[in-house]
Amino acid sequence: MNNAENEKRLAALEAVKHVEDGMTVGLGTGSTAYFAIEAVGGMVADGLSIKAVPTSAATEEQARGLNIPLVTIDDVDEIDLTIDGTDEWDDDLNLIKGGGGALLKEKMVARFTTKQIIIADSSKRVEKLGAFRIPVEVLPFAVNFAAKRIADMGGSGEIRMREGIYFQTDEKNLIIDADFGLIRDPYLIEHDLNQIEGVVCNGLFLDLADMVIVGRGDGVEVFESS
Ligand code: 5RP
Repeated sequence: MNNAENEKRLAALEAVKHVEDGMTVGLGTGSTAYFAIEAVGGMVADGLSIKAVPTSAATEEQARGLNIPLVTIDDVDEIDLTIDGTDEWDDDLNLIKGGGGALLKEKMVARFTTKQIIIADSSKRVEKLGAFRIPVEVLPFAVNFAAKRIADMGGSGEIRMREGIYFQTDEKNLIIDADFGLIRDPYLIEHDLNQIEGVVCNGLFLDLADMVIVGRGDGVEVFESS
């Protein structure tokens, strides 16, 4: 396991200490969340009783394989705790997420969550968000329209491709990776992206994280929202 993988694992193992019997738990998506889901699976095997809400088909498949009892977001009114990864995070614990394309369910789950724990290796912290382009999920028929509106906002956007074809989200939407440079006012960008007809979700996660746990070397650092 390389250093980044080990940092992800350490952050995940610290985060799962917050999982308690009886909780409804949101399960994030990505290579860092993977370690948390694996650990939760072990806890369930040892007798922990929880319900979990997966944020993607990949997470659902992993959780099913570990016999973690699953429900959907529509089955619950609130989620006690969610553990998820991030592509960037800043000092205000604001995030850019969606590198894996699961931003829609991740954001819905985060909104329902009482305690949102973000886990990351030490490479994800930034002074200002925006070096990682903002994933913007759009209805397929609206993709060129949305790209033009992003240009009107002063950004530029590229439709995400994978292996030579358009990348499709679990909900069969497309993603525009939008570049606004380093972002001075993420709240304004988030608001304006949400105004574009055909946009389903954007990857700015503002005021949603309660705690960021970072693996660094052989230890972890914990940051809490003030
Ligand atoms: C998926 C996400 C992931 O949490 C984000 O891309 C980080 O992934 P990883 O843990 O693999 O670095 O937002 O939509």
